[in-house]
Amino acid sequence: MSNIVLISGSPSPNSKTASIAKWLQKELIERNHRADLIEVRELPAEDLLYANFKSSTIAHTHALIKAADAIIVLSPVYKGSYTGILKAFLDLLPEKIFAGKIVAPVLTGGTIAHLLSIEYAFKPIFSLLGAREILHGVFILDTNVQWNEKGDVFLAKEVEERIQHSLEDLLKATERKEFPTI
Ligand SMILES: Cc1cc2nc3c(=O)[nH]c(=O)nc-3n(C[C@H](O)[C@H](O)[C@H](O)COP(=O)(O)O)c2cc1C
Repeated sequence: MSNIVLISGSPSPNSKTASIAKWLQKELIERNHRADLIEVRELPAEDLLYANFKSSTIAHTHALIKAADAIIVLSPVYKGSYTGILKAFLDLLPEKIFAGKIVAPVLTGGTIAHLLSIEYAFKPIFSLLGAREILHGVFILDTNVQWNEKGDVFLAKEVEERIQHSLEDLLKATERKEFPTI
């Protein structure tokens, strides 16, 4: 069993990114892994805005991340990068907290023109936080994510396949970490 933390960085109340995070969480739990979801928009706004390093709520998220084998970080593309609210959260993380963890990036965006933001904007911050194994990642166009009236999320077949592949890669990488080959 792997321990995975998902961090979703959209400020939107009806977030496609968050719905993908919940879909991934459900997939992981169904495969008997532990999967905790941190929705940054649910954290106290003042702690984020004023960089409150003493916040007990923020400290709880740090404990979850420290205990995790792998982290999936999700964000919508905002102005060619990940969101400001996610940056505010990442700014509060202890130095090198991602060391020894597998990190998988997921970005949703309105235009494929910003596909590379995953490389130039998203991945460098994970490296700065100590990650050495950063997976390829997934970029999802917002038109490929739909809901029904019950709030169930539907991903385009091609997107679901790419996410499933990425999930397999993540789980294989965490297994290798648990049972290293000599
Ligand atoms: C303020 C703002 C800025 C955005 N900037 C971009 C952008 O630069 N590039 C892009 O591809 N999409 C951009 N989008 C579109 C969102 O990335 C896209 O709709 C995403 O799926 C929204 O995710 P969410 O529903 O989880 O918030 C922007 C949306 C907003 C609200």
